[in-house]
Amino acid sequence: MAHDEGDAGIPTPLGDDAARRVAARVAAMDEAAAAARVAELVPELLRHNYLYHVLGTPEIDDRSYDLLYRELELIEERFPSLRRPDSPTRKVGGEPVDFLPPFEHRVPMLSLANAFSADDLRDFEERRDDSGRLRGGIRKLLLDAGAIGEDDVITYVVEPKLDGLAIELVYEHGLFVAAGTRGDGRVGEDVTHTVRTLRNVPPRLFTDAPPPRLTVRGEVLFELEGFLEMNRRREEAGEKPYENPRNTAAGTIRQLDPGPASRRPLLFIAHSAGEGLVLPTHAALLDRLRALGFQTNEYELCAGIEEVIAAIARLGERRHDLPYEIDGAVVKVNDTALQEVLGFVTRSPRWAIAYKYPPDRVSTPLESVVFSVGRTGVVTPVAQLVPVRVGGVTVRNATLHNEHQMSREMRLFPSAQGEPLRGADGEEIKTGLRHGDVVVLQRAGDVIPQILGVLDRPERQGARPWVYPEDCPVCGHRLDREENPKEPEKVTIRCPNRLGCRAQLQASLKHFAGRRAMDIEGLGDKLIAQLVERGLVTRPSDLYHLDVATLAPLERMGEKSAANLVAAIDRSRRRPLERCLFALGIPQVGEATARDLAAAFGSLDAILAADEAALLAVDGIGPDVARRILEFTSDPRNLEEIARLRAAGVVFPDVEKPAQDDAAKVLDGKTFVLTGTLPSMTRDEAAARIVAAGGKVVKSVSRRTDYVVAGDKAGSKLAKAQELGVTILDEDGLLALLQGTRDES
Ligand code: IVH
Repeated sequence: MAHDEGDAGIPTPLGDDAARRVAARVAAMDEAAAAARVAELVPELLRHNYLYHVLGTPEIDDRSYDLLYRELELIEERFPSLRRPDSPTRKVGGEPVDFLPPFEHRVPMLSLANAFSADDLRDFEERRDDSGRLRGGIRKLLLDAGAIGEDDVITYVVEPKLDGLAIELVYEHGLFVAAGTRGDGRVGEDVTHTVRTLRNVPPRLFTDAPPPRLTVRGEVLFELEGFLEMNRRREEAGEKPYENPRNTAAGTIRQLDPGPASRRPLLFIAHSAGEGLVLPTHAALLDRLRALGFQTNEYELCAGIEEVIAAIARLGERRHDLPYEIDGAVVKVNDTALQEVLGFVTRSPRWAIAYKYPPDRVSTPLESVVFSVGRTGVVTPVAQLVPVRVGGVTVRNATLHNEHQMSREMRLFPSAQGEPLRGADGEEIKTGLRHGDVVVLQRAGDVIPQILGVLDRPERQGARPWVYPEDCPVCGHRLDREENPKEPEKVTIRCPNRLGCRAQLQASLKHFAGRRAMDIEGLGDKLIAQLVERGLVTRPSDLYHLDVATLAPLERMGEKSAANLVAAIDRSRRRPLERCLFALGIPQVGEATARDLAAAFGSLDAILAADEAALLAVDGIGPDVARRILEFTSDPRNLEEIARLRAAGVVFPDVEKPAQDDAAKVLDGKTFVLTGTLPSMTRDEAAARIVAAGGKVVKSVSRRTDYVVAGDKAGSKLAKAQELGVTILDEDGLLALLQGTRDES
């Protein structure tokens, strides 16, 4: 639906007649007319949100919704005092917060006891001894308390156990006022600013008689399809994919900036209430929450524990068809009076238990093993599989990690579901991967599935083992084996041909141009491939000799794009030292190490001249990393490339090392405002570095602000800074300032 997509969340273009009529109508309103219209529009829009997001039964199409939304937005622009706290326009991410204050749960948020088998569930209901006497379980407690009779059947609710971030929402007199994470159950973090933006969190309860205070509990989940799509885009852009939806949802909710939360497909699903709502049964509570405007967890009513077991099995069958991830089922005694009799043990209710599904496992035939060559020449075996669904995703290939894993660490399984075979000594039997093997794949919490081993089939007898090639599959150069004397199983097999190997050259160029390195906008994978194939670029320094005449004729280029690219390449000549170091792609030198090196040595020449002792003296650099750096800096091919980069105008600017005493104080007394998305760090990181250097970070721009650091999509704060004539920096400017290299003139 159009109104929940796009960057601002409100992509309504005011281009056509209907939209112009809305604009004209709003322009003609006086304040009284506008107030009357707001009183109609807000509940109307909230109702459509509910119909669409909670019930899934929209009454109007996207276009009509967008027009109503736009009308409200225009009225609020003209008459800001009419902007109500429950206005749906508040869902677009507002101002970032400076930190997440503590959030207290007046009623503690508890945890659940776990069950892993049908028998655990039966024991939850009742345990009997050999002579059949009732010894434990909730049936005994209820009988002993006189709450049920011998023949009574206990009714349960079975719900999905939602695999997200536990959140409490607070409504006062019907209005959403706050949200907090579970934390330790008593105190969590205040995440009102991000949770407010979720499309299915109602800003106001649907009731004329709201309780003075209602707290609703549930989970925030990342919709699976949106998650996979986001990872696809990240991978295309050469960024690391996120590990799993749960952690990503948690990371998004706990950000200071509400922007990402407002753009990502996050859902809040309610499963209980803390204060303000008591009903005779749990099922009635869920129904009531739904009527109040919340998306609630689906449930099934079950009479007795055997029905519960069957319902859990049914849910297990469809768990991967749900649009979000669940990791089990929660079983709750339905009757609230019985819940009260049962009460709590320490941190969990006695009336509920969580059943955890085992991780999904399947088997599928191996088609082939492809040996892929990475940026540093390391050759990794990747299993090509007959496509198979596991844990809700389709898998076509999976890494085998390294030679040791592939040739020694495959477990033997009698079946995909079975336990790995063990030898007489009780140890798991391990083997190497063979041609024609059927592999066993598991997807636990993370998106990337693991190969656990292979099926133990008679056909394996005499089948050829998969072995590493002797020559690089891309360039044909003889491969090197690098033994690791301390860990003999960690052999690295590498193509030493470096930039002479097309795989390594392309990966190196991609790394060099990446957002966190030289940040050359417009130099994507396809273009890099063309440049390499045509022999136009054989090393990173060649990029600096490209001109419009050479680039324009390439596929999907043209004069304009070529000119933009040349300009972007030119801008990259002046990146700060730490980024240049990272861009060089020294093995083991990531962004953090590059930053440490730049700060410790202050110049490229000092780093090139550093010996082992000097490198080891840097905090965070150990013997392995030091060895890699020395290998790099003593290789004449690298020195030559650095010389070429310099000759082509890449500056490698020195870092002015502040005196030891006030090393942390370069920004003493300076006030900063951060806005927009910075290319290589979060605003949190930027704020931490400013504070560490003695500066202060505040929320809003005023005449007293010294600097505004503006990233992508900077909004009103940037405009304000321009208006007040406050110095505006981009990320590079900030880094230069932090390093004391910014030219103040
Ligand atoms: S009821 C007093 N129902 O699991 C019982 N919790 O171990 C309170 N969870 O982080 C929770 N799905 O947020 C309940 N259908 C469900 C649930 C659920 C997930 C989470 C809950 C908490 C944890 C408890």
